[in-house]
Amino acid sequence: MLKIKNIDVYRGSTHVLHHLNLEVKDGEIVSLIGANGAGKTTTLRTISGLLRPKNGEILYKTDTNSHPIDTTSLPPNEIVKLGISHTPEGRGIFPQLTVKENLLVGAYNRVDDQIESDLLSMYNMFPILQKRSRLDAGKLSGGEQMMLSLGRALMSRPKFLILDEPSLGLAPLIVEQIFDMLKRINEQGVTILLVEQNAVMALELSSRAYVLETGRIVLEGESADLITNKKVQDAYLGGAES
Ligand SMILES: Nc1ncnc2c1ncn2[C@@H]1O[C@H](COP(=O)(O)OP(=O)(O)OP(=O)(O)O)[C@@H](O)[C@H]1O
Ligand SMILES: [Mg+2]
Repeated sequence: MLKIKNIDVYRGSTHVLHHLNLEVKDGEIVSLIGANGAGKTTTLRTISGLLRPKNGEILYKTDTNSHPIDTTSLPPNEIVKLGISHTPEGRGIFPQLTVKENLLVGAYNRVDDQIESDLLSMYNMFPILQKRSRLDAGKLSGGEQMMLSLGRALMSRPKFLILDEPSLGLAPLIVEQIFDMLKRINEQGVTILLVEQNAVMALELSSRAYVLETGRIVLEGESADLITNKKVQDAYLGGAES
């Protein structure tokens, strides 16, 4: 579904991503794990068109039979229209807008007549958002803001969802809830690329994973294999199972 081929990305004069290759197949949950500053956010922002690679290309297929589209130089709103939606680092909600207004922002690109019914589906999925629908989003708790960020991303009816550290700053119980929802969203046909520092949870949820170190993919494979990999355990799982 998504193929990142050999991209180099700079931020200012810093060479952040080095010849990065990454692939996500239709229907998969893939995780990208790595330490602070490894380049995880940079990778997601490049997929969304917020950053441009200097070399390489990004190819995206809207469905298995379609021709791949080169999204490398498309603007972010065109990328959203292709079905790629991004839950950014720090959630990216608008604190002065209400919960409902934030959800509707996610549908700004749509011209169909099912926006209202999708709003109801979001309230169904996240009852707390309905309860708080008229409240300024800035007043929500961290977990509620994460649900809002996820709900807003879903309002664009994505085929491909990319998430930047959804667990950050949340209590373990809330993280469990969010990850359960991601599983359900995936089962409904949405392909997911998940960036996480919480490597255990990410590897348990995903089928495949990539490990990023200082802008380079150093390991990739089945999540079940990586979770027992000595190098991964020492670096990201605190040697938990060794
Ligand atoms: N706006 C910027 N200008 C210059 N360099 C930046 C900028 N943002 C990030 N960088 C650098 O790019 C590298 C990768 O940053 P990035 O935010 O992609 O890492 P990350 O893996 O998402 O880290 P974290 O776990 O802290 O979110 C870091 O060395 C960082 O200092
Ligand atoms: Mg980041």
